[in-house]
Amino acid sequence: MKKIMLIFGTRPEAIKMCPLVRELRCREGTEVSVCVTGQHRDMLKRVLEAFGVIPDYDLSIMREGQDLFDITVNILSRIKTVLSEAAPDIVLVHGDTSTAFAAALDCFYARIDVGHIEAGLRTYDLASPYPEEFNRQAISVISKYNFAPTEAARNNLLREGRESESVFVTGNTAIDALSTTVRADFRHPLLEWAGGSRVVLLTAHRRENLGEPMRNIFHAIRRVVEQRSDVRVIYPVHPNPEIRAMARQILGGCDRIRLSEPLDVIDFHNFLSRSFMVLTDSGGIQEEAPALGKPVLVMRDTTERGEGVSSGTLKLVGTAEESVYRHFCRLLDNAEEYDAMARASNPYGDGHAAERIADILCDKMK
Ligand code: UD1
Ligand code: UDP
Repeated sequence: MKKIMLIFGTRPEAIKMCPLVRELRCREGTEVSVCVTGQHRDMLKRVLEAFGVIPDYDLSIMREGQDLFDITVNILSRIKTVLSEAAPDIVLVHGDTSTAFAAALDCFYARIDVGHIEAGLRTYDLASPYPEEFNRQAISVISKYNFAPTEAARNNLLREGRESESVFVTGNTAIDALSTTVRADFRHPLLEWAGGSRVVLLTAHRRENLGEPMRNIFHAIRRVVEQRSDVRVIYPVHPNPEIRAMARQILGGCDRIRLSEPLDVIDFHNFLSRSFMVLTDSGGIQEEAPALGKPVLVMRDTTERGEGVSSGTLKLVGTAEESVYRHFCRLLDNAEEYDAMARASNPYGDGHAAERIADILCDKMK
């Protein structure tokens, strides 16, 4: 019996790892365990509940106002005990968070094989996204199996010298998750509130956007909404206290902007599928929106999701107030431009990525 452990700790990792947990648990000849670091608390718990995944280990490391040192040190020291107790043959980590990096480093020290889900995404700019670009490059140095969502991600890994036998193109498990969450009969009081208005879904949380860039973004959005009475913005605000304070200060007190708690993943995916457009600095939403044909203005200087830009659904607009304002207005006012971006295209797979990853792992671990 081969032992596979999945380690994750934040909301986006959970959304993309839970489909894989469920798939691996259906396979014979493997013993599957889940360790959550608890880098996120409520946001993580809600995803686990939505997918019915109960962790075997919960390191509960989250503290108010945690910084990168706290997260990395706490995870690094606590996973050591879990690894020696569970003695997995392989550990799977996801993407580019501090959880993924610290868990992979633990495995390297403990001489345990690592499989990297969503491998090969790159901006090649260590400052953007920060610190995620470092995390994912470092994990690639350690991992034995690299599960790339697309050919472009695979090519990045090959260019960096990874053995071609270690890289597998599988699609992204985000699409697997999407196919279980979006429902035709979905209703929600916030959508009722939006009524016949054009709904713009907003998220913003990136570390490199904290402070001035986020202030610019929020001011641009407020200006646009105040000038257009048929637009309503729904913003599920990340729990980071710095973001909350700024969102309240700049976007609060406007009738057509609703600041809410983070939405459950089922709600969020259904909001996405009913929105007019999306404003975000998120990574995962850049994968989900193209599949649903929702134009996205990406409020960052770089993106590792070039496939969505090439397919026309994503536009990289940076964080300068005038740029966000101008692109937002254009998308609202120019139907031709909107239609060109709103053509659904899905560069991220067919919703069977978890099956492919499980097939490969079971084969390699025979
Ligand atoms: C982390 C990831 C980022 C990912 C994001 C998803 C790293 C370095 N970054 O960033 O790649 O895009 O998660 O959301 O791993 N907090 C709460 N409650 C929660 C979650 C967070 O209060 O449920 C607070 C934390 O205490 C902290 C702040 O929010 O003060 C930031 O959380 P943290 O995990 O440090 O980083 P994220 O910005 O969420
Ligand atoms: N998401 C969610 N509720 C929200 C906002 C986002 O469930 O209120 C989901 C979203 O559908 C996507 C993931 O969380 O799957 C993205 O997380 P986030 O933007 O926090 O992180 P990133 O993808 O940038 O790492």
